[in-house]
Amino acid sequence: MTTSIRFSHTLVHCRDKKTSAAFLTDVLGLDEPKPFGPFLVVGLDHDASLDFIEAGGMEFETQHYAFLVDDASFDAILERVTRRGLDYWADPFRRVPGEVNHHDGGRGFYFLDPDGHLLEAHTRPYGSGGGTWRSSSARPTSASDNWR
Ligand SMILES: [Fe+2]
Repeated sequence: MTTSIRFSHTLVHCRDKKTSAAFLTDVLGLDEPKPFGPFLVVGLDHDASLDFIEAGGMEFETQHYAFLVDDASFDAILERVTRRGLDYWADPFRRVPGEVNHHDGGRGFYFLDPDGHLLEAHTRPYGSGGGTWRSSSARPTSASDNWR
């Protein structure tokens, strides 16, 4: 049986959708966000999108959003993050600052968006390099560690 299921979209809660969507498009080098109803839609490849919506003063959990990018895009994203003076880390627990990881033989790093969502840019799909996880620091070591 053949199926065709592609990821379509998810919502990204934020305080200010213009600020947050512009941050993402600027740092990743994407097209301008497009309004759609209450959302600001940031389009990705394969017609997927992140749809920013303001939480309207309600509390919201920070989430993790990861972007699989080619090597040239990775260099450009890291350069933009650095130029903005943003902190970045090799691991999701933010223990290894200013470094990239080499999971699966590629490169990856983590940084925060204006609301504290944990963003990740990486160049190889998880597990594509035989599942090598090359940073011992990128493991939870306490109950306070989480993957966001
Ligand atoms: Fe991730």
